[in-house]
Amino acid sequence: MCGIIAYIGNKEAYPILIKGLQRLEYRGYDSAGIALMNGSLNIYKKRGKVQELVDFAKHQNISGSSGIGHTRWATHGKPDDINAHPHCSSDGRLTLVHNGIIENYSPIKHALEKKGHTFKSQTDTEVLVHLIEEVQKQDNLPIEEAVRVALSKVVGAYAIVVIDKNDPDKLVAARKGSPLVVGIGDDEFFLASDGTPIVEYTKKVVYLEDEHIATMHRNGKYEIRTIDNEVHTPFVDELNMEIERMEKGGYDYFMLKEIYEQPTTIQDAMRGRINAEEGWVRLGGMDDHVDIVKDAQRFIILGCGTSWHAGLIAEYLFEDLARIPVEVEYASEFRYRNPVITDKDVVIAISQSGETADTYAALELAKKNGALLYGIVNVVGSSIARLTDAGSYIHCGPEIGVASTKAFTAQVTLLTLMALQIGHERGTISDEYFKKLLIELENIPEKVKKVLDSNDKIKYIAAEIKDSPNAMYLGRGYNFPIALEGALKLKEISYIHAEGYPAAEMKHGPIALIDENMPVIVIATNKSLNDKIVSNIQEVKARKGVVLAIVTEGDNEISRIADYTIEIPDTEEPFTPLLSVIPLQLLSYYIAVMRGCNVDQPRNLAKSVTVE
Ligand code: AGP
Ligand code: GLU
Repeated sequence: MCGIIAYIGNKEAYPILIKGLQRLEYRGYDSAGIALMNGSLNIYKKRGKVQELVDFAKHQNISGSSGIGHTRWATHGKPDDINAHPHCSSDGRLTLVHNGIIENYSPIKHALEKKGHTFKSQTDTEVLVHLIEEVQKQDNLPIEEAVRVALSKVVGAYAIVVIDKNDPDKLVAARKGSPLVVGIGDDEFFLASDGTPIVEYTKKVVYLEDEHIATMHRNGKYEIRTIDNEVHTPFVDELNMEIERMEKGGYDYFMLKEIYEQPTTIQDAMRGRINAEEGWVRLGGMDDHVDIVKDAQRFIILGCGTSWHAGLIAEYLFEDLARIPVEVEYASEFRYRNPVITDKDVVIAISQSGETADTYAALELAKKNGALLYGIVNVVGSSIARLTDAGSYIHCGPEIGVASTKAFTAQVTLLTLMALQIGHERGTISDEYFKKLLIELENIPEKVKKVLDSNDKIKYIAAEIKDSPNAMYLGRGYNFPIALEGALKLKEISYIHAEGYPAAEMKHGPIALIDENMPVIVIATNKSLNDKIVSNIQEVKARKGVVLAIVTEGDNEISRIADYTIEIPDTEEPFTPLLSVIPLQLLSYYIAVMRGCNVDQPRNLAKSVTVE
């Protein structure tokens, strides 16, 4: 995601744009740029934070009473001055800022190149502004009509604001899948990705709806049309939140906001990469290496912390669905133990930040030994992304909370897609099962929403166990890594000592810890191992342990013996981690809040561990 700001009215636009970008910087901070309209159109854009732009712009002409601004979270094209927004049409007449992903930008780009268009950047956004230019020129359309017609050809998510320098008393905005708020002032308009840059100027807002195009005029008039050119009468709402809460989308902490973003971020991770109806999965990052990947003798997966847990799930996925041997390694151990690596290995590095020092160093070692390196990374252009031979970005937007949540489920989604694609290429998944899995995977975002509905029950359970000095998490199969992840979430934000174990392992020692003061969280959703899990729960209950069971909805047997149960929707076994982790994220969040911990910045921790 990124931050968009725009202004048209009778004030100087520059201070409004810059202050707005500073308020939106939490949404993305790869680069920042503005375009100012004062008879001519002046564009300034720089890699880095908004302050870099401010330092550059202070020596420039910053006059103008309308303009657009953007702080970027890159999805296509690394963070640099060229890929920074705004982007212009080939004749410089149109200038645009964009939040989102144009999924079909590649065929559109090829068609425009055939018409003589050339592109300066690697972004999907620049393709969009050239498309609008092409449409406008063909029929000499007013900008709002050219935007509407062009967007009807686009697949993907967008929030855009466009300036036509031949029509300077107008701003045109549109959205689909990415947010855009219109602030209505006295003969002036403000546009932004959320209310934070607007609220100090006006509380009257219109939340633009999907596939709606808004045209704001300098004389204070505006109109909204649908993508089908029907006039829409907007509902004028009122902003009623203080700015700090708005940055968190109304949540108390970024972590809770990011937990609740997961239906969208899992959807975004799949966007343009799966089509159950047509029966395909395709990670663009694998295009040039699919033969090496599908014929690999072994996958070595490198990561740290939560990313290492995603790697453990990938081990089950790749061996179960693609029948490729997998080794999952703590990057910090792998890099020092003189491992055996050959050019027949494919090494997959998983990292949200793309800057974790141990993961980077382990990857360098693998590169020296001739392995193919594949990255599963969130931050575009990060060190790990640049070191790998190929990769897939998880597109979950900036993850601000130190405790990883949406990045984890986006990582697991990408690894699931990868296992499905490779399994299908290798013929290790039957066509019938493949199709069934694709259909179910597309249902996951809605099922995550359903799990989030258990929020209040989870909050109640959190209050019941928040004072426990220790906790144990148990899981089997695909859910063993979830037991580890749940334990990590609890310990890193509530400071309660927690351990995750394979459920069957408990009787080899940890069972000695069980007494009435030990809450045991059991992920018991595995149909294939259900009777074994029931036995494990009985063993805990026999020693007075307190059991919270995460069960598949309708599983009454376990609900009868556990002290607390949280139900999650039924799904295919390989996808249970995407659902079973959600209650554990919420449980750790509420316990941490009830214990007065700083949930977004827990003690001793950093969001990106760039030291060894
Ligand atoms: C997870 O909640 C922690 N913040 C931490 O374990 C994190 O997953 C680890 O440091 C790896 O970070 P990366 O994904 O950015 O490489
Ligand atoms: N896809 C566009 C880019 O990579 C916009 C990304 C964003 O939403 O910041 O520049």
